Amino acid sequence: MKEIYEPKFVEKLFDNMSSSYAKMNYITSFGFSERWRRHCVAEIEIEKGKTVVDLMTGMGECWKSILQQSDHNSKLIALDFSSEMIKRATLNKAKFKNANIEILNENVFQNSIPSQSADVVISGFGLKTFNDEQLAALANEIDRLLKPNGEFSLIDVSVPKSKLLRPLYLFYLKKIIPILGKLFLGSPETYKMLGVYTETFGNSKNVHKIFERPNFEVSYVAYFYGCASGIKGRKIK
Ligand SMILES: C[S@@+](CC[C@H](N)C(=O)[O-])C[C@H]1O[C@@H](n2cnc3c(N)ncnc32)[C@H](O)[C@@H]1O
Repeated sequence: MKEIYEPKFVEKLFDNMSSSYAKMNYITSFGFSERWRRHCVAEIEIEKGKTVVDLMTGMGECWKSILQQSDHNSKLIALDFSSEMIKRATLNKAKFKNANIEILNENVFQNSIPSQSADVVISGFGLKTFNDEQLAALANEIDRLLKPNGEFSLIDVSVPKSKLLRPLYLFYLKKIIPILGKLFLGSPETYKMLGVYTETFGNSKNVHKIFERPNFEVSYVAYFYGCASGIKGRKIK
């Protein structure tokens, strides 16, 4: 179990998934992924001229929502360690001609972004592949990146608590998604892993606990009966 949180393992998983990720992400979130990203970003009012860091950016799926209010002074720094996802993010950048987007092919835990350079940190669906120790390191990193009063909003898919939804959700996650993974990718194993990560992750309550620290004001957010969850917060000092 320990090895599934090894950076090399996760990086390879997303390198392998990159060609089918867009389709599969849509399907694995029951078509809700776009809406959840929008809601996650909308938790924060991003003013014009601000610097936003999008951690675990993938192919830049959150950019559209982040850049909605941007102007020529705004900056978006997008980071991911999968070179295949980053290749696609670089292609995606062409769609945002007037935006100032810097793409970094780096591990979040060894990144080159200067301290206190971000007004906002966003992350879409990048939490479940971290264990507790890594989530604590992520909290440190977000603390380092944010300016005082800077804000963050993070989201991931979650297992709902409802007695009705939970078994249906787990059946879909563990049985149906691997079949769809085989159809789209020729490999059910890769998408089976998403089920393993999501079931172990549960929801963002644990992330909330880990992010509760003296210089963060942080709250838990549930989306659509807990099928996704996240945290939003502010760095106080
Ligand atoms: C599920 S995808 C999410 C992509 C995108 N943010 C979205 O909204 O769909 C998770 C991404 O996190 C990246 N990732 C996982 N661990 C990372 C780490 N330690 N450093 C940088 N990127 C990481 C993976 O390569 C993958 O592209």
